[in-house]
Amino acid sequence: MKFFIDTANLAQIKEAQDLGVLDGVTTNPSLMAKEGITGKDNVLRHYKAICDIVEGDVSAEVIATDYEGMIREGEELAELDDKIVVKIPMIKDGIKALKYFSERGIKTNCTLVFSAGQALLAAKAGATYVSPFIGRLDDISFDGIELIEQIRLIYDNYEFDTQILAASVRHPMHIIKCAEAAADVMTGPLSAMLALLKHPLTDNGLAQFLADHAKANS
Ligand code: E4P
Repeated sequence: MKFFIDTANLAQIKEAQDLGVLDGVTTNPSLMAKEGITGKDNVLRHYKAICDIVEGDVSAEVIATDYEGMIREGEELAELDDKIVVKIPMIKDGIKALKYFSERGIKTNCTLVFSAGQALLAAKAGATYVSPFIGRLDDISFDGIELIEQIRLIYDNYEFDTQILAASVRHPMHIIKCAEAAADVMTGPLSAMLALLKHPLTDNGLAQFLADHAKANS
């Protein structure tokens, strides 16, 4: 399973990249706003800065919600760098835009997916990635992981190439459950990735090893 970081914060992206296990980045308009990135030029410059840090795919979301606008914005984003994946919302014009970009070899990520039917449509339109938001489903008492399993079954049934990008991941257990459900990618915060490191027996064991070594070598 690939690990994407879900942030527009350059320091966190760099920290995750330096860890050596990062496969890409996802952003969204809220994450860009959180970093105070406003105005078209600054936004494009920021996406380019992200591409210069990471080796993998970088999802950059369009703001337009009409077909022509999404095509215009998406083409501009895709021109920035080969790593750019144009992120398109799951709406009617979005499906048409996914088809347009897939026919031209431009990578896409269909975002705001909350049902198997939406994921099926995205795959038929040729999306590179589909982003089911598992954390937001859990927030309203729907099982986000169950949706990943459902989409996995459907995509495998028909050998769709679209990759399942489990989004809205919040904690380490989400990451483990996504891996069990055979998601192709998960995107989440750095804190969730770093939390995978943690086990008290590791900390206790290491402390004991170092103490024994120090005693024997004193
Ligand atoms: C997906 O690509 C989104 O950026 C993201 O995962 C949303 O996560 P949230 O529900 O924690 O805002």
